[in-house]
Amino acid sequence: MSDLRITVLGTGYLGATHAVCMSALGFEVLGMDVDKAKVDALNAGELPFYEPGLDTLLAEQIATGRLSFTTSYEEVAAFGDVHFIGVGTPQKPGENAADMRFVDAVVDGLAPHLERPCLIAGKSTVPVGTAERLAERIAELAPVGAAAELCWNPEFLREGFAVEDTLHPDRLVFGVRSEHAEQVLRTVYATPISEGTPVVVTDFATAQLVKVAANSFLATKISFINAMAEVCEAAGGDVVTLADAIGYDARIGRRFLNAGLGFGGGCLPKDIRAFMARAGELGADQALTFLNEVDAINMRRRSRTVDLARELLGGHVLGARVGVLGAAFKPDSDDIRDSPALAVAASLQLQGARVAVYDPQANANAARVFPTLRYVGSVVEAVADADVVLHLTEWREFRDLDPAAVASMVHQRNIVDGRNALDVEAWRAAGWTYRSLGRP
Ligand code: UGA
Repeated sequence: MSDLRITVLGTGYLGATHAVCMSALGFEVLGMDVDKAKVDALNAGELPFYEPGLDTLLAEQIATGRLSFTTSYEEVAAFGDVHFIGVGTPQKPGENAADMRFVDAVVDGLAPHLERPCLIAGKSTVPVGTAERLAERIAELAPVGAAAELCWNPEFLREGFAVEDTLHPDRLVFGVRSEHAEQVLRTVYATPISEGTPVVVTDFATAQLVKVAANSFLATKISFINAMAEVCEAAGGDVVTLADAIGYDARIGRRFLNAGLGFGGGCLPKDIRAFMARAGELGADQALTFLNEVDAINMRRRSRTVDLARELLGGHVLGARVGVLGAAFKPDSDDIRDSPALAVAASLQLQGARVAVYDPQANANAARVFPTLRYVGSVVEAVADADVVLHLTEWREFRDLDPAAVASMVHQRNIVDGRNALDVEAWRAAGWTYRSLGRP
């Protein structure tokens, strides 16, 4: 194992996962965050968010003594040979563009302390051109001068599979300006590379674009199948069967063709918007106008789900009891950023429904952002006396429900399956009126 020392700036989903996994690969790692409460928790081996498998791995790695966390840029600068930047780039309020203030703050905080040679590896999802700009900024600020080198190494992990995706990625992308930077990255990722992970070595612009191109493609794939769902609804077809049938074509592939409530989260929605905004600045806006449509199709699925609930309630939402299963933007995550489930729950509540929400992990996060919704601690409480049940995040716990048992708890047996993930036959056999997106 190489004796390179690694730091990771930002300890959100991306940064914390990266820090823990680098330690698991055998490196000495120092993670950094400006949030002292987070740093204290991580040093105590407690993960500040839910991610399957990461909690135990964190505790194990803290116990080895190889992994620790700090709030100090000075410490990070003195410690690291390779500094990974993993802070967030959220959507700017009221705009499509990405907010670069956290990335900029990290570079401005770190660079003035860089007194020994190092590689800075950007991981955050950024508008193309950011790496070029940051390289100049580092050259201006770093006492060590050109020996503090930047490279771009986008991250493709999925929440819910973060550890697996980090330790066994589909590919590695190295945006580099020197042989040296490539060699350092090859050393850091020696283990996955030795296991056969393909490496794409390229320039800064391409490396930054790969990330947003990948997320745009995934978003487009989801909206494509959701557009087919709209047509199926109009024509009386079944979008799940349609997805199976086209998915057998290896050129298309079945993955990411699950029609339903659409995509949410902290990445896909804001990434396609920021990509359009950046393309506009570059004079290439025409190339990406289709992403407007991808976004619009996605948002229409939320209103369609609300409409389905209203139809099942005979048009009368006011005063109806609605049991909502799911708040996270997807299962196996407690992330509620741009969650379609919460958007639907909030919309029904606004129309006068009495909504109860249950999510196995995301209730607390949801309550911070939508404090007026009522959160309960179990499926039983969520569906009690419900006039309609909405299945909006496909947690295993919900897919495993016994429709006959749930039937005995509700006032009316109406269910909207917003994720096409429940066993239709079983629910109908138990006397439920089952409605879903894109199926008769
Ligand atoms: C996404 C990408 O999949 C990762 O590769 C990327 O690294 C990450 O964004 C990022 O940019 O950081 P993530 O946001 O964790 O990962 O979640 P996904 O698994 O992509 O799901 C996104 C949304 O699409 C979820 O709301 C999910 O419910 C929805 N989805 C997914 C569908 O509606 N249908 C599908 O077939 C698949």
